Amino acid sequence: MKQTRTYLLVANWKANPHTVREAKQIFTAAARAAARARGVELVVAPSYAHLSVLRAASRTAVLAAQDISLVADGPHTGIVGFEQLLDLKTRYVIIGHSERRAAGETNELVGEKCALAVSLGIRPIICIGEHTREVGSTEYLTTIKSQLVAAFHGVSKSKVRDIVVAYEPVWAIGRDAVRDARPDEIKEVAIFIRRVIGDLYETKSVPPLTIIYGGSVDAKNAAYILEESGVDGFLVGRASLEPKTFSAIISASHEIARRS
Ligand code: PGA
Repeated sequence: MKQTRTYLLVANWKANPHTVREAKQIFTAAARAAARARGVELVVAPSYAHLSVLRAASRTAVLAAQDISLVADGPHTGIVGFEQLLDLKTRYVIIGHSERRAAGETNELVGEKCALAVSLGIRPIICIGEHTREVGSTEYLTTIKSQLVAAFHGVSKSKVRDIVVAYEPVWAIGRDAVRDARPDEIKEVAIFIRRVIGDLYETKSVPPLTIIYGGSVDAKNAAYILEESGVDGFLVGRASLEPKTFSAIISASHEIARRS
């Protein structure tokens, strides 16, 4: 049967694991599971401390940085210049994760980073999402729209296909999650994202960008979310550090890709 669908699975390791040894082990397990799973593109986003080690361990690994600096190089203590990032051949970069926004990153800065990444040929994974949802209010859509408009500010129409948008409602992320997002909620936002981008570029055809979901994705909810929400993959935090769980997410995605 002809395979039509590919799901993008991004493992966001944040400031984990503690050691290079563990990083290599987790990476190897994920790469093995992904090698068996047609219809799945695996992207691993380790911290900068482990990025070059993983690049050295596998020249074919698809890696992402967890952030990009606007600085190229030079006298900037504590910063990784984007020239150094280019040398690591990272295909993707996560931009505007809610944990970075909480540390002061503005919509405008996210837009500048996004334009820079596109100009360097690195695919941005732009994280957007509201902090809370009030019953009966559509304020979350206003938040999402302003995040999108700012992020795409410097992106030309021909580059839209290079962008990945990760919808990550902050209330569904991490150990403090209030609850899981429902597939119908994710689907509504994915449709809204395409509409906003379609309006922004004045196009009637469906914008070709990739939309993934992030927020407490695990082995139990992955298949259900993919099937019911129609998103193009996941940004996975905690579960991407547990080889068994992450392998199960990879196989569930493969299974759904195979059936589609
Ligand atoms: P989580 O994190 O999967 O642990 O909820 C997702 C993220 O923050 O990207």
